[in-house]
Amino acid sequence: MIKLSLHNLPVNQKLARNIYDQEGQLLLAKGILLEPRYVQQLLKKGLEEVFLWDEMPAEQLAQFESRAERRKAELPPAISSAVDAFREFMHTLSQGHAITINQVEETVDLILPEIISSNNILRQMKLLRQKDEYTMKHSVSVSVIAVKLGESMGLKEKALRNLAKAGLLHDIGKARVPMELINKPAQLTNQEFRVVQQHPLHGFKIAQEMRLTDLEVFTAILQHHEKFDGSGYPFHVLGRKLHIFSRIIAVADVFDALTSDRPYRKAMPLLNALDEVVNNSNGHLDPAIARRLAAYVLNVIPGELVMLNDGSTASIVIINKDEPQRPMLRKGDRFINLQEERDLHIIDLI
Ligand SMILES: [Fe+2]
Repeated sequence: MIKLSLHNLPVNQKLARNIYDQEGQLLLAKGILLEPRYVQQLLKKGLEEVFLWDEMPAEQLAQFESRAERRKAELPPAISSAVDAFREFMHTLSQGHAITINQVEETVDLILPEIISSNNILRQMKLLRQKDEYTMKHSVSVSVIAVKLGESMGLKEKALRNLAKAGLLHDIGKARVPMELINKPAQLTNQEFRVVQQHPLHGFKIAQEMRLTDLEVFTAILQHHEKFDGSGYPFHVLGRKLHIFSRIIAVADVFDALTSDRPYRKAMPLLNALDEVVNNSNGHLDPAIARRLAAYVLNVIPGELVMLNDGSTASIVIINKDEPQRPMLRKGDRFINLQEERDLHIIDLI
């Protein structure tokens, strides 16, 4: 990557980093060709320099791109091992045996550095979604999202560690609910639902049995289905009386559930799920935390490739803030504004 002055830039160079204005609004996304009109606009905004990709011989570039492709297509080994470890926890508990706090700490040791070092977790979330067992991958995914939300709130490493633990363990009580109810491909009866609703209490007991000592993790396990308006379970705790960890895990839980295939419905595209979390959660989620999730996703998503409903692919250039699920896209040399082209919509990230 090289830094060059905008005043004597060769034409149509590829931008290597996102450019933001002073309010943090994205002006241009990385990967875009810096046409002269863009250069003029940046100069008007008072910018002097930009980061560009170095010239690379075609052969070297192809190697670089295929390495990047491979990296994109594989789940990081730490995340994959955490899913395996969690599967083992559930199996052990469902057989009536105990898991130890050390096993949980080791799993957190694996994933925490991976999550903290990753600026963009959307790729991990997508690869995790492709794993078939919902409860296993969901617990790791909630852990990943919760840590990123915690980071955005400025939480320190000890707190992030406990958030990762809370994400990993929030549904651990499902090990003591019959599997046929967890995976039932139809609506649960009232009686079945009451059985499933016991899982936060089972989880609390399992945490006691493994001698967990972190109060905030206990609380998040117990409260992750409580709702901001007091309509949740098991104790109908109201809004701000809910621990901040419980509110973070609840947002991560709902977002991951919406973007995952479930036995009774298909996954929702990521940006539609985000819109749902922010605007249609009916008072169930803490709106400030939902907005933090939106700010994080909207900041990292420019440059991502998406699949459209007509089967074509495009990359996200700029998010339309009032309708984030309909961003400005780039398809080859053409720009498509999904706010105007209403027949097109995004199916998923690629
Ligand atoms: Fe749950």
